[in-house]
Amino acid sequence: MTHHDPAARDASSWLADTRTSYDTDAVGYAEKVQGILETFPHLRAQLDVFAELIRCAGGGPVADVGCGTGYATRYLHDSGIEAFGIDLSPKLVAIAQRDHPDLRFEVGSMTNLDMDAHSAAGIVAFWSTIHIPDYAMSGVIAELHRVLRPEGLVLVGFHVGDGIEHAATGYTKQPINIDTHLRQPSTMSNRLHDAGFRIESTSVFRPDDVVPGAIIVARKRG
Ligand SMILES: C[S@@+](CC[C@H](N)C(=O)[O-])C[C@H]1O[C@@H](n2cnc3c(N)ncnc32)[C@H](O)[C@@H]1O
Repeated sequence: MTHHDPAARDASSWLADTRTSYDTDAVGYAEKVQGILETFPHLRAQLDVFAELIRCAGGGPVADVGCGTGYATRYLHDSGIEAFGIDLSPKLVAIAQRDHPDLRFEVGSMTNLDMDAHSAAGIVAFWSTIHIPDYAMSGVIAELHRVLRPEGLVLVGFHVGDGIEHAATGYTKQPINIDTHLRQPSTMSNRLHDAGFRIESTSVFRPDDVVPGAIIVARKRG
């Protein structure tokens, strides 16, 4: 990955490029994330807390938005949560559906969800808003806010840092064209707060790594 000039990318093409890139690299991505929850107990713990918060709020549907291969959808479902997955990449949705035939997966974009207002008890965005450019983030957060019921919960996992990393080659060595937007936890929580959420928790993982991970859990103000 290399840092690049965000102005170099056509503002209208990032969504199509993200979809095509994950379609191209779906098999490689699936191999990369295989067993990830077993390897990272911190991630499991975050999903456990989220599931508990959903249960305490009376349960209800939880959308795993940008679900990829569906491992988080699976984990939440097995924790007793009514979870389903949505992803931009039809190839990843096909892999998720193949690997978890008892769960529901749909192709869709967090920029414009095919969900009714106030219909979800929770939204999980596990390392998926990382592909949303800054200028589109307020629209995405507003969309998550729209579909959540009052006091509904959102979990956002993202890479910590500043700027944009560009990838031109996928895990399967095929050409891709995808940007990953690094963000500071304070920037993300401010965005959520300004959009009508109350922050429940912020966790940073491996802060000494070159690119740490962060998870923010927030609640839609009722
Ligand atoms: C880094 S992967 C994370 C996948 C999965 N949540 C995981 O933790 O392995 C990013 C995922 O977000 C999806 N994605 C990117 N932009 C999206 C959008 N606008 N709407 C829905 N999904 C999106 C990609 O197709 C990809 O599956």
